[in-house]
Amino acid sequence: MRKKPLPKIEKLKKTDLPQLRALVDNISNFKKFEKDCALELIEFALKNKNQRDYIIYTAKINNLMAGFIIYGWIDLTKGCYDLYWIAVDNNFRGKGIGKKLIQSMEKNVKKDKGRSVFIETSSKTNYTPTRIFYEKCGYEKTAVIKDFYDKNDHKMIYRKNIR
Ligand SMILES: CC(C)(COP(=O)(O)OP(=O)(O)OC[C@H]1O[C@@H](n2cnc3c(N)ncnc32)[C@H](O)[C@@H]1OP(=O)(O)O)[C@@H](O)C(=O)NCCC(=O)NCCS
Repeated sequence: MRKKPLPKIEKLKKTDLPQLRALVDNISNFKKFEKDCALELIEFALKNKNQRDYIIYTAKINNLMAGFIIYGWIDLTKGCYDLYWIAVDNNFRGKGIGKKLIQSMEKNVKKDKGRSVFIETSSKTNYTPTRIFYEKCGYEKTAVIKDFYDKNDHKMIYRKNIR
């Protein structure tokens, strides 16, 4: 028997919206404005199919929404991408789905001649597991901007060169 279920990773579809809304709503470390922002990007991507600023893929297990990733090309750069959001539903965590979403993004970025992926995250302790996850996916801390989000809440910038 397969230990880790293989998620189906596919481009965001209109019909995903209700399940994605519920998933985002359940992510406990996202604040209300962060949830609103993620949902705004999802709606933007659904309305604007040919842009490459916010590219969204979902991960499904047996047709159930297990996670999503939002990334995009950084304007004015040659081949740099930002990973904006990644989340896996609580019930599906620790099964390799987050890593599969990251690997699938990296494959697409490489295909589009991308060089590097950047991730910005918070230094707060509730983001410690997320930072460990990024490191496990091969991302290295490359800069810290102190007191960026708030006093004692620094911006941590991670980077992975993919070619
Ligand atoms: C971060 C997140 C996406 C990870 O997804 P996941 O599917 O549970 O992660 P995976 O199972 O693919 O784990 C990949 C690796 O990271 C490690 N990891 C994942 N979550 C971890 C945790 N909470 N603590 C320690 N390590 C963790 C795993 O052990 C695994 O290591 P391995 O490759 O050595 O086996 C998920 O926990 C999440 O949605 N968190 C809330 C939302 C969030 O903070 N998003 C990021 C900011 S936008």
